[in-house]
Amino acid sequence: MIPPKPPSRPDKVSLLRYLRLFRQDILSAQPARLYRAWMAEFRTPFFRSYLINQPDLVKTVLKESPMAFPKSGRIAEGLRPLLGESVFLTNGAKWLRQRRIIDPAFEGGRLRETFPAMWQASQAARARLRSRAGDTVEIEEQTSHAAADIIFRTLFSIPIEDDLASRVFHEFRAYQRSQPIVNLAAFLPLPRFVPRFHRADTKASARRIRALITELTEARQREIASGTAPDDLATKIMTTRDPVTGETFTTDEMVDQVAIFFLAGHETSASALAWALYLLATHPEWQDKVAAEAQRLCESADFADMAKLRITRDVFRETLRLYPPVPMMVRETCGGQQFRGRKLPKGAQVVLSPWHQHRHERLWERPDEFDPARWGSENGKQCARDAYMPFSAGPRVCPGAGFAMVEGPLLLALLMRDLRFSPVSNRVPEPVAFLTVRARSGIHLKVALR
Ligand code: HEM
Repeated sequence: MIPPKPPSRPDKVSLLRYLRLFRQDILSAQPARLYRAWMAEFRTPFFRSYLINQPDLVKTVLKESPMAFPKSGRIAEGLRPLLGESVFLTNGAKWLRQRRIIDPAFEGGRLRETFPAMWQASQAARARLRSRAGDTVEIEEQTSHAAADIIFRTLFSIPIEDDLASRVFHEFRAYQRSQPIVNLAAFLPLPRFVPRFHRADTKASARRIRALITELTEARQREIASGTAPDDLATKIMTTRDPVTGETFTTDEMVDQVAIFFLAGHETSASALAWALYLLATHPEWQDKVAAEAQRLCESADFADMAKLRITRDVFRETLRLYPPVPMMVRETCGGQQFRGRKLPKGAQVVLSPWHQHRHERLWERPDEFDPARWGSENGKQCARDAYMPFSAGPRVCPGAGFAMVEGPLLLALLMRDLRFSPVSNRVPEPVAFLTVRARSGIHLKVALR
């Protein structure tokens, strides 16, 4: 069974039709040739965009010359009301400074310290789903709940049942639904006279989220000052000094960072986990393998035990290949660059597409099939190096990648240990790019005790 893939649009369409398709969904707005092309140019009277799949060119942009391909200002336009000057949006010296302060919080040793919070949140998610055994459940809602709980517990030592945490979570849900076209402005640099798609409710929702996060951050600042702060990610980041300047983040700067941690940290993981559960539900042989592996985790597993979950990790990696939560990333050219014999004009948009590269017909064997065993094959190993970037790559790589690769397999294993998931007939989810890759009408699965 081939997992759902959005239909491609015809090769040639008018600009107007393209814009309209784009507003609906950026995945199905693309032509099928992008699954075979090394590079594609989008020319219109207003802009040039280049989608790049060729591994060595992607490497140039992300790893070799990242400073020559800064993050596109078009992305910032859509996300600025929520994220301010967060590390996700900044460039140059400001971005470098922010990464110097943030990165140490996510290093291996520190990750180990966040494990108990992840474990507790995963157990809570398992209990919630166990109580629904026998029902058909909308899974994205469950995984969003679980991933948000993990972020709140690891960042601020509060479970999602906490009043403030729960309010932030519900505001984020409203935000992600009200902002489905955040990628549009980035991928399609529209001329200035075309109205932006900042809806009033999106802006209001961003304002409310920031007010709540400011409350959390200010409270933490006071706890740090009085020596009563818990040793979680927020305290770590807020007390880390930039090794170059000796400064810490101000409260305002921290609010920007907390906003992106919540957003990047729970939206992405929730998307990946929901697709992973769907793929396991539709591939029961893999579900049984994960369940068998999960039996080896004892009731008080620790961080080191995660290394035992090999199959579960391969399932999660394969999910991130087929449904990369961040389907496309956009950079801008500074001028003077040449790709495949073509000179790129200054200010052109360079689109790196995990979505297309992960399903590229000239790189991957059976690209649209779900096969976690591929990671042991020669082709799988080669592609893991050259054509796999769910967390991006190079200096701007996702700082939460290690975190996500613990959280994802842990939650999957704990859920599979005593639950069984199966698909509901006639409810095949349709992937669309909202803020992350989601199912247009949710993912509905039957849950039973194993
Ligand atoms: C499955 C889970 C995740 C996926 C697939 C994912 C993917 C990504 C990708 C592709 C980027 C680069 C975007 C770009 O350059 O345009 C990114 C950046 C980022 N991610 Fe993640 N992420 C995940 C989880 C997390 C978690 C758990 C956190 C934090 C707790 C996090 C924090 C960030 C931050 C702060 C950035 C911005 C880094 C920068 O621009 O320097 N992510 N993520």
